[in-house]
Amino acid sequence: MFSHRTNWRLNPNALTRAIEEARASEQELLDLTVSNPTEAGVRPDPETVLAALVNPEAMHYDPQPRGLLAARQAVCRYYHESHEVFDLDPERLILTTSTSEAYSYVFRLLCNPGDEILVPKPSYPLFEFLADLADVKLVPYPLLYDHGWQIDFDSLYKAATAQSRAVILVHPNNPTGSYVSAAETSALNAFCRDYSLSLIVDEVFLDYSHDGTLRSSFVTNTDSLTFTLSGVSKISALPQMKLAWVATSGPEETVAEAGARLEIIADTYLSMNAPVQLAAPVLLEQRKQIQPILLDRLRVNLAELDSQLSNRPSCRRLQVEGGWYVVLRVPVLGTDEDLAIDLLRKMGVIVHPGHFYDFPDEGHLVLSLISEPVDFREGVARLLQVLGD
Ligand SMILES: Cc1ncc(COP(=O)(O)O)c(C=O)c1O
Repeated sequence: MFSHRTNWRLNPNALTRAIEEARASEQELLDLTVSNPTEAGVRPDPETVLAALVNPEAMHYDPQPRGLLAARQAVCRYYHESHEVFDLDPERLILTTSTSEAYSYVFRLLCNPGDEILVPKPSYPLFEFLADLADVKLVPYPLLYDHGWQIDFDSLYKAATAQSRAVILVHPNNPTGSYVSAAETSALNAFCRDYSLSLIVDEVFLDYSHDGTLRSSFVTNTDSLTFTLSGVSKISALPQMKLAWVATSGPEETVAEAGARLEIIADTYLSMNAPVQLAAPVLLEQRKQIQPILLDRLRVNLAELDSQLSNRPSCRRLQVEGGWYVVLRVPVLGTDEDLAIDLLRKMGVIVHPGHFYDFPDEGHLVLSLISEPVDFREGVARLLQVLGD
């Protein structure tokens, strides 16, 4: 009765079941995986945000497949003010309700059923579902850790086949927190030229560079056909507002053709609603208030982690440049999932095992750095107790 593409395992995994049991028994939990900013006690000014949504113009329906011009201009202003991109043409933007929707538009644009997309490993677990829904096959390429994360270009070249259509980059990556370097960008452009591939670049965490260094956006990358995805879910910590976009750059002719085709995909759904598009300038402005608060929290939690890890030889954190997560390297005494369940049952602390993010081997836990600092401090202390340090 159902399509093969929806043949997913529908029952929850062991950790999710253990969390449900713990919640049902009213055990007090410290959740160090919180990635929803609206549950982490950081939120943009409610009055400003809510007032922006009450706009009489929203009573008029103006179906624009690429999104309302004023909203796209607000996105261009964001790139201008925050990333020194002075000439982004709003015509190169298509608004979507989420980056997930943007991924699905781009997959549909580039891939026939069975075509392949190269994805970093470890990375964000949602790709599997997005790919299944678009009948696309994901082929992983490894990121290697050696005093920082790097793309393994040998493996990337080996992973490419005649079916490959694009390379996904997450800049900075979730959960490794690594940005794509300038040298890697040049090598990736050469790779895309060699194999006629596009780049799909997820920049939702671009602004969260821990040392405050400005990192370049791929919206200016013109050497390959490039689709840059972002949105207010992370930029302004407003995931509930469902405002994201895809910006197309690259060789002029291909960009125009890609834009025209994307416009038809977007026109088919017309998924953007009027109140959010009209509020886009205000929603994007909120980043100026919320990003310093979040960046401060990321740094405070990271410093706390480092202080608790000093003199703990068996556990260390991996280098991180940006984003909301940190990876811990822990002793391998069993599977990471068993360790996470043990930690939950013994100490009421929730962390993610590395395999959620497709780490190739055991010994990795992922923590969210946007957790409340009091919870984070206590959670890390309990974690280290369980590790026996
Ligand atoms: C790398 C990455 N991309 C995209 C998203 C989701 O963004 P959106 O809410 O716009 O779909 C997330 C959410 O955590 C993410 O980690």
